[in-house]
Amino acid sequence: MTQSQSRDTFTTRWGFILAAAGSAVGLGNLWMFPWRLGEFGGAAFLIPYLVFVYVLGTTGLMGEFAFGRWAEKGAMGAYEKVLEEKGFGFGRLLGAYPILVLLGVLIFYLIVSGWVLRYLVSALSGNLLGAGPADVYFDQFAGSRDSIVWQAVGVILTGAILVLGISKGIERATKVMMPLLLGLLVILLIRSLTLPGSGEGIRYLLVPDWSYLQRPLTWGMALGQAFFSVSLTGAGMLVYGSYLRRDFDIPNAALNTVTLDTAMALMAALIIMPAAFAYQIDPAAGPPLLFITLVSVFQNMPGGQIMAILFFVGVLFAAVSSLLAIKEAVVEAAMDQFSWTRRTAVLWIAAVAFLCGIPLAINQGRFDRFVDLITVYLVPFGAAMAGILFFWVLGIGRARAEVNVGAEKPVGAWWEPVAKYLFVGVAVAIIGLSMAFRIG
Ligand code: ALA
Repeated sequence: MTQSQSRDTFTTRWGFILAAAGSAVGLGNLWMFPWRLGEFGGAAFLIPYLVFVYVLGTTGLMGEFAFGRWAEKGAMGAYEKVLEEKGFGFGRLLGAYPILVLLGVLIFYLIVSGWVLRYLVSALSGNLLGAGPADVYFDQFAGSRDSIVWQAVGVILTGAILVLGISKGIERATKVMMPLLLGLLVILLIRSLTLPGSGEGIRYLLVPDWSYLQRPLTWGMALGQAFFSVSLTGAGMLVYGSYLRRDFDIPNAALNTVTLDTAMALMAALIIMPAAFAYQIDPAAGPPLLFITLVSVFQNMPGGQIMAILFFVGVLFAAVSSLLAIKEAVVEAAMDQFSWTRRTAVLWIAAVAFLCGIPLAINQGRFDRFVDLITVYLVPFGAAMAGILFFWVLGIGRARAEVNVGAEKPVGAWWEPVAKYLFVGVAVAIIGLSMAFRIG
């Protein structure tokens, strides 16, 4: 065992898989996936999404976990270590990029978590079901000053869990959160699929409108969504890898993470799309889709209030477990860079994320553009950068050897061109294409 003794590690195999899945399964699955799917052609979006998440997502996750474990550091330390080996001194600077992007993710995540908290409280008080049309209710609240208070509550909640430390805080929280969420989604799935008129929504998810695949942005959105959904950012899963012991099976964890994450996203789509069609809500409604669709379901079902409470508790669980991971990467970098204690780092980052979020929380258009920028362009770019450093700079042979340490079924030589050329090449090409077409 070469791991430094002072570094906190995950204590059990399942603890790590659940924490990684907890990081992956979040608002990206429940809130963003149905929204993107609705905007980009339903089944047509699913095709590139599934290819990207399974082929590139699994490869990238193996890379980030192994990169972190090899370096025993988060992104800044890991990028520094690999570049120093080759005599370059700018690794820390480069490593700051994905950390700053994650700070961006944290900023919008806290805002949406605030919406979820607000809906939960309204469901508890009974206001939500009597609030009138669900879209009007959302518009009155989101993008207004009301969001700020709830955003602050989210900051305090996650900050407190993080101060407790890795294995105690994250493992304990996610072990309870994940199974609970799954149970809730199954109940909602049954309800949604049995709504009169839901068949159109299922058709929308199964029959592709091929014209969407001719639009480069569909591919860019699918790539960004796939990477964001499995928390492949060039830093997010890398820091989790840095807490892994060397007897841990990385290929297995990567595959499990992608499968759990995809199952949750598909389940969310299968809940939201049929309900949207049943209640004549535009599937391309964008960011409010989850909120307006499901509130309509709850308003029109017996026991709607209790279901709404349970559902928003579930979404909150998913959001918090992802928030913890996102914040952890940023906190680790700050502790490493400034030699701060965990508590100081958490406090500073929480304050910065909260303050920077205020201009976005009060303007919905600005918020939407910010989310697109971060998830479609900046996140996949960070993931590609980590891929270049690990697969190209460290060297693909060493990268594969690191991935295979502790693996029951090691990846074969076929994995090397997949990681080195396909992962990096496709990611860079798609980001470039979607940028060119967005600008053009
Ligand atoms: N991977 C996390 C999500 O899907 C960030 O929300």
